[in-house]
Amino acid sequence: MASEHVIEEKKQGQTLITEQKEGNSKKLFIESYGCQMNLNDSEIVASILSEQGFNTTQKLEDADLVLVNTCSIREKAETTIRKRLQKYNAVKRINPKMKVGVLGCMAERLKEKFLEEEKIVDLVVGPDAYRDLPNLLQEIDEGRDAINVLLSKDETYGDVSPVRLNSNGVSAFVSITRGCDNMCTFCVVPFTRGRERSRDPQSILKEIQDLADTNFKEITLLGQNVDSFLWYGGGLKKNFKKASEIAQATAVDFAQLLEMCATAFPKMRFRFSTSNPQDMDLNVLHTMAKHRNICSYIHLPVQSGSTAVLKAMNRQHTREEYMELVDNIRKIIPDCALSQDMIAGFCGETEEDHQDTLSLMEYVKYDFGFMFAYSERPGTLAAKKMPDDVPMDVKKRRLTEIINLQQIHSLQRTKHFVGKTVEVLIEGESKKSDKHWKGRNSQNTVVVFDKENYKIGDFVNVKIDDCTSATLIGTAIEFSDNN
Ligand code: SAH
Ligand code: F3S
Repeated sequence: MASEHVIEEKKQGQTLITEQKEGNSKKLFIESYGCQMNLNDSEIVASILSEQGFNTTQKLEDADLVLVNTCSIREKAETTIRKRLQKYNAVKRINPKMKVGVLGCMAERLKEKFLEEEKIVDLVVGPDAYRDLPNLLQEIDEGRDAINVLLSKDETYGDVSPVRLNSNGVSAFVSITRGCDNMCTFCVVPFTRGRERSRDPQSILKEIQDLADTNFKEITLLGQNVDSFLWYGGGLKKNFKKASEIAQATAVDFAQLLEMCATAFPKMRFRFSTSNPQDMDLNVLHTMAKHRNICSYIHLPVQSGSTAVLKAMNRQHTREEYMELVDNIRKIIPDCALSQDMIAGFCGETEEDHQDTLSLMEYVKYDFGFMFAYSERPGTLAAKKMPDDVPMDVKKRRLTEIINLQQIHSLQRTKHFVGKTVEVLIEGESKKSDKHWKGRNSQNTVVVFDKENYKIGDFVNVKIDDCTSATLIGTAIEFSDNN
């Protein structure tokens, strides 16, 4: 079985609750695993089901309907979900009327097999089929299993207003693209989330307006590959070249979308995730440099520092091109923080390739990272064509070396802030102490400081006194001028 080690990844599912709508009598227990996109999708699902008489509950035992939004990215993610289904099984013995549905990437990957393999499951719904939930629920009410795993060419849920689940009332996710066309050979996402399509910028701006009206202060624009955002009236990204001349001439790309957002909402902080290096262009960097309200932080997964491995992964850039992009980022946005995703032990990875990864890390000195041992995923090109030939103990050793080096770099990066003053948006109470607030600076590093008279949602200038490799510890000085 694949092993993984991650800094800062949520291993637990998040139980999601939202405000109770009057008149709704049915109870929905919804949990989300995996990426931020799944969490945002769960908010869309809760919104659709709220119209069907469901309020969320935190108690599994009380639920009429249990939904789990699943992740397929690594084998371990799927094993976690299977275990969770056993727990539902135990509860269903006490509450036999409870229905269980599986959403998301595992639903899409396994399709009917889920209904065969896991008797507890009544409902299987893929990421593009959530609008069909009311019909599917009717099917199960009538005693049939229900499944919809159709992938779509144009579904973006642009008109569904997500209900904010477990929200701190300060920061929210807004999806801007769905799916991915990149076909990295290790990755299951193109199969589970379908082809890439972008959302109408007007519907994105409207969603941000609604969030601004309810006092949200920070938006993270989400997509598998945000830099490849392209709106030309709707439809698949790959069909852009066939669109009319007018559609092509008036198209909006990611740099333009960022510009629109930052200009329309000057007090709102913007972040985005994830950037694929091959699609990031310099206009994005210039837009970031121009707007103070776009955070100086780029999550820039590289996966490997070896050009040979990058090629085998079907990443469309070399080690040198990636370094050039990093140089440009440092030139255009000197205070920009960078983070990585790395995969240790991909098919054919030699010791030399691994050393290339470590030396690339030395070159960039990432602020943080998300690091994994390669986990073969059924159906991907790598699974079909490339032997998973790096022994598990070697994968683990290389992964440990990568993690240890990242820890050193993270500490160097956080130390760099000591003595400086940074602007922090207060998101909530520190996990370790109810006397301290926690928030993040522009570079996405967590900052903890004494509460004094500040409150959640305030932008505060904080002087940094101390740090660990993951956290800055400081003293609030004053409100920042962004309030
Ligand atoms: N573009 C996406 C990437 C999704 S997958 C995004 O928005 O984040 C997130 C990370 O999981 C990848 O960058 C990669 O490092 C890791 N990953 C994907 N498939 C994997 C596999 N088969 N084994 C190990 N790690 C994998
Ligand atoms: Fe996966 Fe590569 Fe897309 S990692 S999500 S196929 S950019």
